Amino acid sequence: MSKDLNIDWSNLGFSYIKTDYRYISHWKDGKWDDGILTQDNMVTISEASTSLHYGQECFEGLKAYRRKDGKIQLFRPDQNANRMANTCKRILMPEVPVEKFIDACKQVVKANEAYVAPYGTGATLYLRPYVIGVGNNIGVKAAPEYIFSVFCVPVGPYFKGGMTPVNFVVSDYDRAAPNGTGNIKVGGNYAASLLPHEIAAKQNFADCIYLDPATHTKIDEVGSANFIGITKDNKVITPKSPSILPSITRRSLIHLAKEYLHLETEEREVFIDNLDEFKEAGACGTAAVISPIGGIQYKDKFHVFYSETQAGPIIKELYETLIGIQFGDIKAPEGWIYEI
Ligand SMILES: Cc1ncc(COP(=O)(O)O)c(C=O)c1O
Repeated sequence: MSKDLNIDWSNLGFSYIKTDYRYISHWKDGKWDDGILTQDNMVTISEASTSLHYGQECFEGLKAYRRKDGKIQLFRPDQNANRMANTCKRILMPEVPVEKFIDACKQVVKANEAYVAPYGTGATLYLRPYVIGVGNNIGVKAAPEYIFSVFCVPVGPYFKGGMTPVNFVVSDYDRAAPNGTGNIKVGGNYAASLLPHEIAAKQNFADCIYLDPATHTKIDEVGSANFIGITKDNKVITPKSPSILPSITRRSLIHLAKEYLHLETEEREVFIDNLDEFKEAGACGTAAVISPIGGIQYKDKFHVFYSETQAGPIIKELYETLIGIQFGDIKAPEGWIYEI
């Protein structure tokens, strides 16, 4: 590391810090330009941009990890690229080609290498790619121009000193509609989640659980993470629903459960009034990997899974295996790791 940043790596949270460089590329007249790295963290756009008025924007989140040998690696950036392309298609934005997306991420990590925490601190470099509709437009229609950008922020380890289970409450609100935009990563889903989150937080819950918007009987999402449950006969279950964001962490954990832990896995409906079928549960996503779920409040009943103070053994093992791969300590499945 060439630069002394004076960052207390073990006490970093999840807050914005201006790093040195971000990547920015413009789409106009049917094509993306080559993109550049810039030190300017301000984005100046038309007051009539569709991203400001009609929510024509999307984002992604992934991390760069420092290995024991000092090298840096990205975890499955192609999966984020594919998900973002899928999101763009749904809201009529031009897709960012997978190679361009990965190249932009690599450029940003390289240019901000000093912000990738030393191995062993648990901290990582969080990358935030996004696409926004810009240009002059007032009617409800797709924008004439777009910006694709990637910036990065060093973030702390989610669990400092052991995994602590957290509790959730089932919300009466929906974050998305049955055939809406729940399965893509658009800002509108997150705007819709701010109030339910605040209500849950005021009641001392970590976040809220969203049920499927069509019947309100099945678990869809756990805040901004996917649900994962371990049945009494050690099956790893994840909910199947068209309004869930397809989590890359969840997909990875299912693979590891099968191939590394030799457990059975199943994607199927998870009924909120049948939580007794699970002995352990967790919320999975890029930020936490897996947060063990202590308990879930549903109407007037509080259901406790493994324990309110300790993570269960299978959730713990899944967590250790995935972070082992992400930090380069465990051999990854073919194609998961992109070295910088
Ligand atoms: C709504 C929602 N669900 C699930 C996830 C987890 O997805 P991933 O594992 O790809 O980070 C996220 C985070 O991106 C999210 O925002």
